[in-house]
Amino acid sequence: MDQRPIGVFDSGLGGLTAVREMRRLMPSENIIYFGDTSRVPYGGRSPEILLKYARQDVHFLRSFDIKAVLVACGTVSTTALPQLQAENDLPILGVVEPACRKAAAMTRNRRVGLIATAASVRSGAYERTLHRLDETIHVVSRACPLLVPLVENGRYQPGDVVIETVAREYLEPLRQEGLDVLILGCTHYPLLTDIIREIMGPEVSLVNAGAESVHTLHDALARRQLLAPEGTGQALLCTSDRPEGFGQMARRFLQEEPTAPVRLVDIEG
Ligand code: SIN
Repeated sequence: MDQRPIGVFDSGLGGLTAVREMRRLMPSENIIYFGDTSRVPYGGRSPEILLKYARQDVHFLRSFDIKAVLVACGTVSTTALPQLQAENDLPILGVVEPACRKAAAMTRNRRVGLIATAASVRSGAYERTLHRLDETIHVVSRACPLLVPLVENGRYQPGDVVIETVAREYLEPLRQEGLDVLILGCTHYPLLTDIIREIMGPEVSLVNAGAESVHTLHDALARRQLLAPEGTGQALLCTSDRPEGFGQMARRFLQEEPTAPVRLVDIEG
């Protein structure tokens, strides 16, 4: 048993969709969450910049005595995970492998779609992982660069004509592909589940990469006997810009009152 917190980070709010799953599946765990709202979105950046940001994010989380890191950011998971794992002597998990495992297990017709940021799609990490699991899977990938900025600006509700129009523009070509599984390869996208489901139709199952990674994290901690003893875990939320706005959005996402004010962090300092 290990009471130390788990560090979680994302470019912004999206990783809170993974935290929500953590609160459900692992309610005893203490969580330190960092959302890098001063530099969001990550999805259009180069691998070099992403590695620099990811190192700073992990460095900040390690200023707490954490026992593991969940990279709740699809973009960092696809571009910087092996380096982070090599440089740190604690378990660091990303979202790609868990999402691909789930998709490979779910698909019946072996036609799997991926929506993710431009950097994630460019990296080819999801395709490589899916093909390692099953080389017969046909993968159709689509970068959706406008979705994260819209979600970060609160435009994620069904009925919002802007997000619905943009989502349709990205998803319509995928709808023609006869997919039976679509991976939501960025942790912001589960906030758009209803909109995506409406466009893709009931025959396409959605894989929430962030939620899948939480199940993998739980099993990894259990194997190492690092799960927290029974109790009520706390979540400390930290952000690099506008903590008040972040707190309001977090309250809505997590459907709980934060136990402490959102902490402002100078991530470059
Ligand atoms: C972004 O900041 O562009 C998205 C983060 C992610 O890929 O989960």
